[in-house]
Amino acid sequence: MADDFAHQVVDAINDISGLHAGHRAAHARGMLAAGTFVATPEAARLTRAPHMQGERVRATVRFSNGGGDPGTPDHATEGRGMAVKLYLADGSRTDMVALSLPVFFARTPQDFFEFTRARKPDPETGQPDTERLGAWFAAHPEAGPAIQAAVTAPPPASYAACAYNGIHAFRWVNAAGEGRFVRFRWEPEGDVETLDADEARARGDRYLQEELAARMAAGPIAFRLVLTLAEPDDPVADPTAIWPEDREQVVAGHLELTGPEEERERAGDVLVFDPTRVVDGIELSDDPILHFRRRAYAVSVERRSGVALGAEAG
Ligand code: HEM
Repeated sequence: MADDFAHQVVDAINDISGLHAGHRAAHARGMLAAGTFVATPEAARLTRAPHMQGERVRATVRFSNGGGDPGTPDHATEGRGMAVKLYLADGSRTDMVALSLPVFFARTPQDFFEFTRARKPDPETGQPDTERLGAWFAAHPEAGPAIQAAVTAPPPASYAACAYNGIHAFRWVNAAGEGRFVRFRWEPEGDVETLDADEARARGDRYLQEELAARMAAGPIAFRLVLTLAEPDDPVADPTAIWPEDREQVVAGHLELTGPEEERERAGDVLVFDPTRVVDGIELSDDPILHFRRRAYAVSVERRSGVALGAEAG
């Protein structure tokens, strides 16, 4: 059945970035890398999920810029994405999708929709309606931290020198049936490095892609998976909420990327990262943005590839 609301939301995104056949509606420009992930014993204590028991699993990773126009240069002020797909021994897959922002700006799909519509540029001036945007911000103070981070973040020196946050809470359930809400993030094993705007521009339209390819040709790049563990009263269904800084942190695994991904997105293969694609031992929180994302991604996938999310695209 057609999901009208999800179509309207993707239309609103297209209204800002334009329609670009064959490309994702958001995060249109990206590049793939291949590698492996190994979980730590601490992860296995928190979840019974098969990919968190310490066996080495194959990974496909897509780094991206947040906008929906694949022609936007790498130095533009945008959030960056890191989407990780892990291939389990039983043939199933699971995805962990993260952004360079610390939190999200919208608490509900309706808020996301209204904000996206308010950002639509006026056809005459090319600028968004500042009054409408201002009214949205006044009504949504919870958006402040994410917007502030998005507009002030300097361009990264490398996709491999940036930290990426999973933003939503997931409930990790261990072999004894004990559950704990966590948020995950991918942290580079090396330093986080940024550029000033002029330096980024001087590096060229595709500097992030070129830098990552050169870096991987010289040797593997590594990230660690870090979990923040929620305390019982922490908000777990609100992607705009910041958790207190003193929450326990756990290193749950190590990801190593060794080169370009050779198998996916070739010969008609449709690659999609769906944050709700979890396996036994990891449960979704009630965050409405998290649940809505699958619906919006299904629309984007169908439009860019003509196939259905899940059955033919995964
Ligand atoms: C209502 C909220 C959101 C909407 C409507 C939305 C919409 C979209 C759409 C349409 C795509 C393209 C999907 C495809 O064609 O495969 C996409 C990709 C992406 N989104 Fe979202 N998104 C939302 C929230 C988020 C959040 C909270 C995060 C981070 C935790 C996020 C991170 C990403 C990333 C990293 C990609 C690129 C995935 C890839 O490389 O294939 N999005 N988003």
